[in-house]
Amino acid sequence: MYYFLPKAANRPVYSYRLSIIHFWALIFIYIWAGPHHLLYTSLPDWAQSLGMVFSLMLIAPSWGGMLNGLLTLRGVWDKVREEPVLKFMVAAVTAYGMATFEGPMLSIKSVNAISHYTDWTVAHVHVGAWGWNGMLTFGVLYFLIPLLFRTKLYSVKLANWHFWLGSLGIVFYAVPMYWAGWTQSLMWKEFTPDGFLRYGNFLKQ
Ligand code: HEM
Ligand code: HEM
Repeated sequence: MYYFLPKAANRPVYSYRLSIIHFWALIFIYIWAGPHHLLYTSLPDWAQSLGMVFSLMLIAPSWGGMLNGLLTLRGVWDKVREEPVLKFMVAAVTAYGMATFEGPMLSIKSVNAISHYTDWTVAHVHVGAWGWNGMLTFGVLYFLIPLLFRTKLYSVKLANWHFWLGSLGIVFYAVPMYWAGWTQSLMWKEFTPDGFLRYGNFLKQ
């Protein structure tokens, strides 16, 4: 993002200083956030709480980075309307913001108690994987390949179609996944009078 977005927009990065803070804060904080994958396991409770606290802190550098990306586009938003490369990048950075907002929420122990072992996690995964990584990858490829081969993109129209179909695809995947995940989360809370899970069946899948 820090290299290709300014290049594609032909603008300097909004804040170089913020990019350095973003980098070092991710390096320092992310290494302590790993236990958010191991909540409610045999990992000592203090380590789980540590993971939760650091995951919550991660929202600051993540959103700093997202804003740094979006603000780099100040003054060239009209180009975003026409340029598929920039569209992919804007969608990617926005998805980064969504995934890194949701992540800290999922790391809160009381939220994770219902989200873990449900498709909620899988929805989160793919907002990151497709939205952030996938969209950025294609933004970069559409920028880089014509440059490498000193030519023009074969069809801007097709690239636009690619963008909209991809975006629609993500929505078609994410919405049902969230729906399923939240339904499963609610199922976690339903017990029989004997204290067993009323809807334990979905766990077997
Ligand atoms: C501040 C940023 C983020 C935080 C704090 C965070 C936090 C979390 C949490 C709490 C879970 C659920 C763990 C569980 O219940 O097992 C999770 C799962 C996951 N997240 Fe994130 N997330 C963040 C950003 C991202 C991004 C940007 C991506 C992808 C590019 C991503 C990829 C994943 C994946 C692949 C899993 C599932 C791992 C598995 O299969 O168990 N996360 N994340
Ligand atoms: C059309 C493309 C894709 C489809 C249809 C798809 C679908 C799925 C499905 C159905 C699952 C299993 C969910 C479950 O266990 O209930 C899954 C898991 C996963 N996918 Fe994808 N996926 C796609 C692309 C990707 C890409 C591009 C990445 C990464 C860059 C990715 C990363 C993951 C990860 C990390 C998991 C494990 C999540 C977990 O169990 O916590 N997927 N995917």
